[in-house]
Amino acid sequence: MSDRVRILSRAGSTTVEPALLPAASGDVIRVGGGSRLAGTVPVEGAKNSALKLMAAALLAPGRTVIGNVPRITDIAIMADVLRGLGCEVTMSESEPLPVAGSPRADTVIIDVPPAPSCQPDVDLVRRLRASICVLGPLLARCGRVSVAQPGGDAIGSRGLDMHVAGLARMGAEISAADGLVVASAARGLHGATIWLDFPSVGATENLVMAAVLADGTTEIDNAAREPEIVDICAMLTEMGAQIDGAGTATLRIEGVPELRPVRHSTIGDRIVAGTWAFAAAMTRGDVTVRGVDPSFLAVALDKVAASGATVDTTGDGFRVRMERRPRAVDVVTLPFPGFATDLLPMAIGLASVSEGASLVTENIFDGRFQFVDELLRLGADIRTDGHHAVVRGRERLVGGRVRATDIRAGAGLVIAGLCAEGVTEIADVHHIDRGYPNYVADLCSLGVQVQRLSGAPAG
Ligand code: EPU
Repeated sequence: MSDRVRILSRAGSTTVEPALLPAASGDVIRVGGGSRLAGTVPVEGAKNSALKLMAAALLAPGRTVIGNVPRITDIAIMADVLRGLGCEVTMSESEPLPVAGSPRADTVIIDVPPAPSCQPDVDLVRRLRASICVLGPLLARCGRVSVAQPGGDAIGSRGLDMHVAGLARMGAEISAADGLVVASAARGLHGATIWLDFPSVGATENLVMAAVLADGTTEIDNAAREPEIVDICAMLTEMGAQIDGAGTATLRIEGVPELRPVRHSTIGDRIVAGTWAFAAAMTRGDVTVRGVDPSFLAVALDKVAASGATVDTTGDGFRVRMERRPRAVDVVTLPFPGFATDLLPMAIGLASVSEGASLVTENIFDGRFQFVDELLRLGADIRTDGHHAVVRGRERLVGGRVRATDIRAGAGLVIAGLCAEGVTEIADVHHIDRGYPNYVADLCSLGVQVQRLSGAPAG
């Protein structure tokens, strides 16, 4: 992954849906330690799928309807990105509800104009990593695009070189400099053979979305195989695209002249589901998760089982029961179907309270261990060296004041707080709002003492 384009991570002003505005960044989640999670929790659509499905809507003029979209701030920002491009975007409660008892999924209706703008709002794009996924569709639709380098979590350098190189192979003139990616394809994009240095999720998505309207056949080798890639390929196929190999390392796309808008429902969120699986194991709880295909997180569930939990899977979810102190397990993050990097904070959290020492290796993001300093404040025994962490489990952590450094770290710290003696306060919880709809309410419904305090001073 040479010549990485560094990403600027800067917040800007926006006009996101009032209902979805992040609460003040001074909000704190207060967790009472020593609690056990028990009950059933529904999981909504996957953030990292829904955001890309919304970008894919740009490929067809007319009304696209996407169901099972989670109510989180990242979705609201993406809606505003699309509005800025001339789309009308409205949201309403998903019907029928994808998961019984879940009021939190939306149906997003996107009316795409015949000629969308090709210049997404710079400030909005910088708030959201997934906004880079408008690059491929806009280039395919408009023949030119100028998009800011996106923001997102502080989990390490997040290159764009594979997006840029792939589109260049398809005939785009493209440059990424001074915080802006500028691309044009005056004579349209053409099919190409593209070998990705690494199975990048975002690059695969952008290149597929560009290739579906390109002239001729595109082959993407070493493509990402995440369930979210399969979901976007399914929606594109429903729209009239010709794609073979979704879910494998080789995607073959035959370009078509145009696509039509469709209705599509988002797959369940495997990372939110995985968070509950680890939370059940860490708190010696009993949690049933519904609304996700358990094969999406087979390796994660296998690790939870290896730590001593009983894991039963069903057609649309799983149950995790833990009756003992967890045993240490080693974890290595890898592209799908490997262990998801987004569950690394949960794996380190589990290791922190397990019997024995665990070796946790991160292979995707170079800054993912940033949150470890916060876990140390709760008394965890963790030593990091490069992309490895050695975690020696403690019977109990100690309550304290910590800060969410990104979405997943934030969610993981809340769970760690449940395993601590005394009270833990997690600040900067707006990060959690970006990816977990109703996190505090879900925790309360699982029987633990958790409160969100507005505007409380950060630790
Ligand atoms: N990379 C490059 N050059 C590129 C593209 C990627 O060097 O052109 C590098 C990145 O810097 C990173 C690695 O490749 O080190 C993997 O990046 P990838 O492109 O696969 O990740 P992404 O598309 O930026 C998505 C999710 C992440 C998730 C990763 C890996 C979205 C919006 N984000 O990011 O989710 O961790 O895939 O599965 O889909 C989250 O939801 O909290 C989150 C961070």
